[in-house]
Amino acid sequence: MSSFKNLRIVDNFYQTSMFYPMPTMLISTLSPSGATSLGAYSLCFPYYIAGKEYYAMLLECRNSSNTAQNLLRTGVCAINFLEDSRRLFKETVRLGFPGERCEEKMSDCFLEMEAGQAADKESDGGARPLVLKDAYQVLECSWDDSLEGASEDRARLGLLEGVEPPYRSFNGITSRFGAHFILRIDAILMKERQYDAIVGGVRARDFPRVPVDYGYRDSKSFWYTRFRKPLGVSVPARPGMDLASVKYAADRIDPEVSFSDEACEALRKIPRIFLKTALTGIAEQAKSMDLPRVGGKLVVDAEVLAIVNDKRNAEKRG
Ligand SMILES: Cc1cc2nc3c(=O)[nH]c(=O)nc-3n(C[C@H](O)[C@H](O)[C@H](O)COP(=O)(O)O)c2cc1C
Repeated sequence: MSSFKNLRIVDNFYQTSMFYPMPTMLISTLSPSGATSLGAYSLCFPYYIAGKEYYAMLLECRNSSNTAQNLLRTGVCAINFLEDSRRLFKETVRLGFPGERCEEKMSDCFLEMEAGQAADKESDGGARPLVLKDAYQVLECSWDDSLEGASEDRARLGLLEGVEPPYRSFNGITSRFGAHFILRIDAILMKERQYDAIVGGVRARDFPRVPVDYGYRDSKSFWYTRFRKPLGVSVPARPGMDLASVKYAADRIDPEVSFSDEACEALRKIPRIFLKTALTGIAEQAKSMDLPRVGGKLVVDAEVLAIVNDKRNAEKRG
């Protein structure tokens, strides 16, 4: 016998029938007057994370919202992440009340804003929405309307009574009341404290105080949980691969590159499924490093490995 009860799946299942942990964010877009407008969102997640020509987020929203309308029209937005504070969450919920025009909701908004840093998007007249000064991190994005022919939806602005078909599968207007936006990440802005932690090494006290939206809501309240304290859970210690297996793989990765025993020893802790990718990446880096050749081959030793690792960290600094 199952230990679960089976719930019926209904519209908005993640908030009507689940406790689904989510972030909360305020998304800035440009209103028709050119002013920045803010809308509250949780359904916004990393979409393209590697292996594509660019990185992207996916936003799911009502197609008649100011945010959707502004994105369809201008194609640009900034996703602002706020720390846990009763005052900020209250304002987030206020900015999440449907039906107010941009000017109405923004007229008594106390949040301060500043210019972002993403390059202006020429195709849209160059303007970008402002970002929130109080945010601990911001993603400045532009909508990729080339996917699924969604650029045609730019003219099909959402209406409260719903948009007529056709609907797209995953980008643009996707149902009578819904829209999905694949948002190219143009810049990641980070407050200095978190920036330093990410580049220099993260300690528990460097984490931003992030609240978690429970997903579940009813007609009276949005529910969220306050920030407590981040707890680190160690990556499970698995016995490393045996040295001979690492050396065997390393010897066959690139005819121009060899790996010293010391380097192979250090690579034993990499999970086996990632070893080939890691070795290929290191060999590529080694080839761009102008290393002396020994026996015709570039040698990756512990020192070179450390430089490759440092380089990867330095890349985050941009
Ligand atoms: C915490 C919170 C999270 C929300 N998440 C979403 C969401 O992910 N998608 C959505 O369509 N609406 C969401 N809403 C409702 C929107 O905020 C609401 O539709 C609002 O009108 C959007 O503002 P805008 O019209 O200025 O874009 C959320 C509201 C709150 C308070």
